Amino acid sequence: MTEFGQLLFGGDYNPDQWLHQPDVLVEDIRLMKLASVNCVSLGIFAWAALEPEEGRFEFAWLDDVIERLHANGISINLATPSGAKPVWMALKYPEIRRVNSLGQRDPQRTRHNHCWTSPVYREKVRIINTKLSERYGKHPGVILWHLSNEYGGECFCDLCFAEFRKWLKARYKTIDSLNRAYWAAFWSHTVGDWDEITYIDESVHGLKLDWQRFTSDRCVDFIRHEIAAIRAGGSDRPVTTNMMSFFPGLNYWDQAPLLDIVSQDAYPCWHGDRPDSDIACETAFVYDFFRSLKHGNPWLLMESTPTNVNWRPVSRPKQPGMLRLSGLQAIAHGSTSVMYFQWRKGQGGSEKFHGAMVDHVGHENTRSFQEAIKLGADLAAMSKVATARTKSDVAIVFDWDSLWAVNNSQNQQNTHKNYQDTCYSFYRPFWKQGVAVDVIDSHGDFDQYKLVIAPMLHLIKPGVAERLQQFVQQGGTLVGTYLTGQVNEKDLCFTTGFPGPLRSLFGVWAEETDVSSWAWSQSVSAAVGNRLGLTGSYAAREFCDVIHLESGQALATYESEFYAGGPALTVNPTGSGNAYYVASRNEERFQDDFIHGLLSSLGIQGVLGAKLPAGVSATRRENGESTFTFLMNFNPTPVEIALPTGKSVTLPAFGCEVLETKK
Ligand code: GLA
Ligand code: ZN
Repeated sequence: MTEFGQLLFGGDYNPDQWLHQPDVLVEDIRLMKLASVNCVSLGIFAWAALEPEEGRFEFAWLDDVIERLHANGISINLATPSGAKPVWMALKYPEIRRVNSLGQRDPQRTRHNHCWTSPVYREKVRIINTKLSERYGKHPGVILWHLSNEYGGECFCDLCFAEFRKWLKARYKTIDSLNRAYWAAFWSHTVGDWDEITYIDESVHGLKLDWQRFTSDRCVDFIRHEIAAIRAGGSDRPVTTNMMSFFPGLNYWDQAPLLDIVSQDAYPCWHGDRPDSDIACETAFVYDFFRSLKHGNPWLLMESTPTNVNWRPVSRPKQPGMLRLSGLQAIAHGSTSVMYFQWRKGQGGSEKFHGAMVDHVGHENTRSFQEAIKLGADLAAMSKVATARTKSDVAIVFDWDSLWAVNNSQNQQNTHKNYQDTCYSFYRPFWKQGVAVDVIDSHGDFDQYKLVIAPMLHLIKPGVAERLQQFVQQGGTLVGTYLTGQVNEKDLCFTTGFPGPLRSLFGVWAEETDVSSWAWSQSVSAAVGNRLGLTGSYAAREFCDVIHLESGQALATYESEFYAGGPALTVNPTGSGNAYYVASRNEERFQDDFIHGLLSSLGIQGVLGAKLPAGVSATRRENGESTFTFLMNFNPTPVEIALPTGKSVTLPAFGCEVLETKK
């Protein structure tokens, strides 16, 4: 477990853009100290400054910067520079440039565009990482390695394809078993030899899914390579890489074990077309996922913006209070840092109008810098929170294979599949009630939870159904939904009736699915006296599984169409637990009532033990000495919150208070 003994505050620092203005680098330190900055991410895109010509390394400027930061008590999260390659390298070695799905090689431009496999690129990365590690890897100021930047993307070059064929051979052993796994007789896609796999045909779903897994695995392999070079250089400092929310291209569950601490970049769209409370809830879900990636250990908010971004069609600056509130929200959900992209705005380049702690005007008298000063002071004063953890009785399953397979599939409803939004819709009621939720993988440990919700678990990997069965048998409560258990790990449909291997656990057979757009809605009527206290009728849209109850009971039924009167919500008691099947995509009021009923039946309470005002969120972190309760108001107006003590707290618009209770 990686701990820093304090909460980190700072951001991406790019002194290599300012080497021609040494006074700016001196002024940076003064401003950093003013804002209580105690950590910067250094040199992320600095390869051209570090190795201006092949084999000619320039470290003197970095020596100076590191010494100056260290002398001023600012620690360093030192980057490996592989996120952007120097021009000379890209031109001299075309093989390091990525190839797109049609076989065209990228020109040298932008960043994040290197081949995952190229031996030349890997060697160049090995050399520079090893040198950085040898030179700085034991420096007392260097506390962490920042691997590359926002890994992502695919490369379809010959080198990557050769690796893909190796990966396939290891998985399928024979070409016949690959053809069977891919249902290749369909449209005559049968291949006679491994070398015939030369293109990712998206109509072959098994192939497409394997390519997604392979690309994710290539990235894992690349990360291993980067870490090995750092270790070879003698540094044993922890490593991280900045991930991107639920970036669909990489399975972060596979990366997390390689990293000492996980970190992520968050750019919620505050003050946009949707209420800030919705944005806050979705952001909280992402943060809970990062807390869960390393099983409750601290994570790092590596990037966020102090003001606006510059890559959305419309991006507003953070309103007064939001810089502090959004930073503390990350801490509330287990982060051990608030870091920004970026420290200082560059004069040029495509991000010159992106928010930064220090504006172009260069001094501290800006609204956002003054707010940053306050947040920096707050974080310094609450460093004890760094050791505090969050305990959760509830988990929501987020499974990349299901996400990929659902999105790849062509089904009756191709416009509103919304895997991620469905996860949010199950998370929201917990957020509203201040109940902690972990976000886990389908390979995760179910047994430590009382309640596991697995929305749209479309693809069932080997062993998962058995472990869910055992979880319920031993007293767990499981919730599944429409689209569950339709395909196996090869993306081949189960032929035993949906939800496939979970059919007996849920006690239902999903015979067919009715679908709709938002223009039409079904409704679902709660059974009188049902165990969850649901009452009246609820709108259902987009997905309505037509199911047969095979064991257990219906808690709600459909009200119209040919399946009127049929079950829409069921429970199947198994062993000492219960498995609920939610057959339709229901409106928010249903989600609220349903989750409320489950929480009451399981005796799980929110942080304040009472309903929170709308737009308010509450979380808790605990260590041996204290409990820290975070109260956050995402409304643009003040709000009063009743506390269990009988007292109340009034939070201003976008206000946040952290209450410490000694144990
Ligand atoms: C990403 C990158 C940064 C920067 C920001 C801008 O998170 O990692 O280098 O481009 O976006 O929002
Ligand atoms: Zn490649």
